[in-house]
Amino acid sequence: MVKVGVLGATGMVGQRFIQLLDNHPDFEVTALAASSRSAGKRYEDATTWYLDSEMPESVKDIVVCETNPDDMDNDVDIVFSSLPTEFAAKVEKEFAQDYVVASNASAHRMKKNIPLVIPEVNPEYLDMIDAQQKENGWDGFIVTNPNCSTIALTLTLKPIVD
Ligand SMILES: NC(=O)c1ccc[n+]([C@@H]2O[C@H](COP(=O)([O-])OP(=O)(O)OC[C@H]3O[C@@H](n4cnc5c(N)ncnc54)[C@H](OP(=O)(O)O)[C@@H]3O)[C@@H](O)[C@H]2O)c1
Repeated sequence: MVKVGVLGATGMVGQRFIQLLDNHPDFEVTALAASSRSAGKRYEDATTWYLDSEMPESVKDIVVCETNPDDMDNDVDIVFSSLPTEFAAKVEKEFAQDYVVASNASAHRMKKNIPLVIPEVNPEYLDMIDAQQKENGWDGFIVTNPNCSTIALTLTLKPIVD
C-alpha cells in the first residue's frame, strides 16, 4: 500500500481526500496534518465533518500533527496537500525535499518544472519532474492540478482538440 499524509486534513478539501481514499485498494491514510489549532487532537475531535458520508473509522483516532515534515514522522510515501495557498507556497517546498507532494493549492501552478496535470489530458508533463528534482536538489517533488472548473472544461475540450 502507498502510505498517504493529508495536509489541511481538517478542511473541506482535506475531508474530500479522506473520503475518496477510504477503502482505496492502493492507498492508506497514515498521517493527518493541519494548523496548530488542531495539532495534538484526535482527528474526530479536531474536525467539523461537512460531507454527507460518515467520517471513516480508520481516521478518527489518528492524532493530527503540525504541518511540517519533521512532525510527519511515520512512514509516508506521498502527501496530498489542501493547504491555504499562501501557506502552501512555503510548506510544500519543504515537504518536497523528501516527499512526493500532490497539491490542490494554486501556489505552485505555472512554476518552472512543476507539472500542472490533468492525467487524462497531459500526463506527459510529468516528464519535467527529473528537472525539478535536479534544479532544487530534492528527493521528492511537487505535482499540481488546475482549479475544479478548469479541469471539467479541459476534459470536455480535449477530445475536440484531438
Ligand atoms: N484544485 C481544486 O480543485 C481545489 C478546489 C477547492 C479548493 N482548492 C484549494 O484547496 C485549499 C484548501 O481549501 P479548503 O476549502 O479545504 O480550505 P479550508 O476548509 O479552510 O481548510 C484549510 C485547511 O488548512 C489548514 N490550515 C489553515 N491554516 C494553516 C496553517 N497556518 N498551517 C497549517 N495548516 C493550516 C486548516 O487546519 P485547521 O482546521 O487546523 O485550521 C484546514 O485543515 C485552498 O488552497 C484552495 O484554494 C483547490
